[in-house]
Amino acid sequence: MLAGTALVRFPVPGGRWHRGLQARRRLEQFFGRRVASRRRQPGPDLFSQLCQAEDDRGQRFSDADVVNHMIFLMMAAHDTSTLTLCAMMYYLARHPHWQQRLREESRALGKTRLIFTDLEQLTGIGQVMREALRLMPPVHGIPRRTVKPVQFNGATIPAGTFVMISPYVTQHMARHWPAPERFDPERFAPDRLPLPDPYQYIPFGGGAHKCIGLHFAELQIKTILHQILLRFEWSVPSHYRMPVNFTTLPKPADDLPVYLTALSPSRHPSTNP
Ligand code: HEM
Repeated sequence: MLAGTALVRFPVPGGRWHRGLQARRRLEQFFGRRVASRRRQPGPDLFSQLCQAEDDRGQRFSDADVVNHMIFLMMAAHDTSTLTLCAMMYYLARHPHWQQRLREESRALGKTRLIFTDLEQLTGIGQVMREALRLMPPVHGIPRRTVKPVQFNGATIPAGTFVMISPYVTQHMARHWPAPERFDPERFAPDRLPLPDPYQYIPFGGGAHKCIGLHFAELQIKTILHQILLRFEWSVPSHYRMPVNFTTLPKPADDLPVYLTALSPSRHPSTNP
């Protein structure tokens, strides 16, 4: 991913916009070359499904539509999930007792390769994921345009106004979250759910365009973190606070250096029941 937003939106060689356009062309070629074969021989994957999808009148997406959807999906699905994992790694490095709690939960499953129903049991990872998404939502601003006048906090926002909804701000509001800056996955303990207001927590957005991948993201994150927990311990110095670059999606400005220690193989299950 590019490190930040281009200030000059003109393809000056060496500049960010130029690099971005070059990278986009590579993705266009990568997906473009594969559309025809996916149309001929579809699999169960989303790329194939986009190639096959038809509306009520039997119309399909053009090749360019399919490619654009796939490029969007790369960001929507991949960058969000990796940044969530990154935030979780950071908070677990700073809170070793939570790291150990999750490791014990993973060890209790007694296997490395998980099946769908195993993931339900990794409730601690689920709680830590929700808290990391609260403190560091990968999509920290959601752009919208009002389609009609809206009353908000005593003011009228006219139709056609560009508004930015910020999960980051909402999820750090003291009126919704006691001690909002504190990492506390217990906020999402089953006996404290549901939340008083569903819109106080919006890392996946809300309404018609709410994330379609939120459950898939959780499955993927649990699967990956389970492997890491079984194989490694990691930490950061006690005074360390991750600097965040919010220019695009919130990513560690210093690439988050962690001390990684391999656990002895005898400490993790090597065979699957
Ligand atoms: C932790 C990971 C993820 C986060 C935080 C996240 C966040 C979001 C947010 C905030 C939106 C709403 C944007 C809006 O309202 O304008 C969104 C939409 C979307 N997400 Fe995710 N997402 C994640 C993972 C995924 C995954 C894994 C996929 C696909 C496999 C995915 C696919 C999509 C798509 C296709 C949309 C657009 C939905 C629409 O416009 O109708 N996301 N996501």
